[in-house]
Amino acid sequence: MEVLHISAECFPVAKVGGLADVVGALPKYQNNLGVSAKVIMPFYLNKFTKNRKFDLLFQGSLALGDKNYTFQILNLKIKLGFPLFLVKIPELLYRENVYGYDDDTERFLAFQIAVLDWVLQNKKKPDLVHFHDHHTGFIPFLMSHAKKYKVLKEIPTVLTIHNAQYQGQFEYDKLHLIPGFDKKHIGLLDWSGQINPLATAIKCAWKITTVSPSYLVELSQHANGLENLLAHEKQKSLGVLNGIDTKVWNPETDNMLKKNYALTNVQSGKKFNKKLLCKQFNLDPEKPLFSFIGRLVYEKGADLFPEAFYKTLLKHDINILVLGSGNLETESQLKTLTTTFSDKYNVYIGYNEELAHQIYAASDFLLMPSRVEPCGLNQMYALRYGTIPIVRSIGGLKDTVIDIDDEGGFGICHDLVSVEDIIYSIGRAVEFYKDQKEFKKVRRNCMKIDHSWDKSAKEYLSLYKSLIN
Ligand code: GLC
Repeated sequence: MEVLHISAECFPVAKVGGLADVVGALPKYQNNLGVSAKVIMPFYLNKFTKNRKFDLLFQGSLALGDKNYTFQILNLKIKLGFPLFLVKIPELLYRENVYGYDDDTERFLAFQIAVLDWVLQNKKKPDLVHFHDHHTGFIPFLMSHAKKYKVLKEIPTVLTIHNAQYQGQFEYDKLHLIPGFDKKHIGLLDWSGQINPLATAIKCAWKITTVSPSYLVELSQHANGLENLLAHEKQKSLGVLNGIDTKVWNPETDNMLKKNYALTNVQSGKKFNKKLLCKQFNLDPEKPLFSFIGRLVYEKGADLFPEAFYKTLLKHDINILVLGSGNLETESQLKTLTTTFSDKYNVYIGYNEELAHQIYAASDFLLMPSRVEPCGLNQMYALRYGTIPIVRSIGGLKDTVIDIDDEGGFGICHDLVSVEDIIYSIGRAVEFYKDQKEFKKVRRNCMKIDHSWDKSAKEYLSLYKSLIN
């Protein structure tokens, strides 16, 4: 069975968020199960693409409205555990960032057109197309209704929703950019008077998955305007919990750590990593270390951090370390806090994969007070590194973290997203940390939890099989 994943991000080539981790890991595990899984993504101008070699597989030109663009399909020479193809369109995709340009609509439309043009001319077609989030949302519409791609109509399509907050909607003045289709289908593009790629994908995909079971349930209530549509398409939707790449995320072999450790030497291993990190950030290794890693945005509850941290640090003798970037106001407030608490608090504004690994290894607790969390991978990385997650019970966090007061519990959970809940939960953690015997036991239990992709890759396989027959 040949499956083509289509995505805007894929680790380690280009990563903004968890989407990249999923697309960079799931195909590996699928290949272990005998599926031939491949990935196609845009060719960006970044460190990864600058330093690698590629084979040219195909050259073509595509029309976007009245403009023409030449494109190339390249094949990455080194092995990632699955074949990786990239679409190079110099004027549109070959830029430093993945998102955030005024012409993102044009960029990702051109990407999708190039992918389908290439698939169309390949003799061997995939048995199934698995596409991710709104950047690739027109794929099933084009395959079913664009005149040019009609021969692809019988190929089943699966949409995975990693985040329904972002939908890529735009106005009808850009309708002409979409390859020719029978206008009686125009309603499939529409949601609330705009062209909405995510809504189109939800309507047209053969099956929909969300990245955790709880998120699927929550989407009928909160989906940034798509609640009714998602409720309506419920019968073809399924929640499949993400896994993690346990080869990339393994404290025993992780070459980004200064000292590796396993279950048998977790105490000394974490202690060593904590000492180094605390030195780097002027923190006290004798005190518990609470961290946050991720985008500093509203969805993640990051806007509450400045006040919550200020009040917590006045009250408790702990360290807090933040790694991330996002909302500029939050960034600046978090930076300002360092002047008040220079020896118990620090922040690194930016994206730094290596530092993220070191923080998981060094921390005692990881904070995730998300407003929305479709799955969340960081709590699973934390568990694997023996770091206790403190989460708001929502989406994937609800599906993966059990409170220490409940049977078999290993995390700290709160229900609301508020400054008070964050402070209260940190207070519980401080108390818990005092009982070192229990703390160390739970820490070991965390490390034993298996969140590798093995299980979920099998769920995807049976979903694919149900579509392919
Ligand atoms: C998005 C979601 C996150 C999820 C990730 C991978 O980034 O916000 O919760 O873990 O996608 O599916």
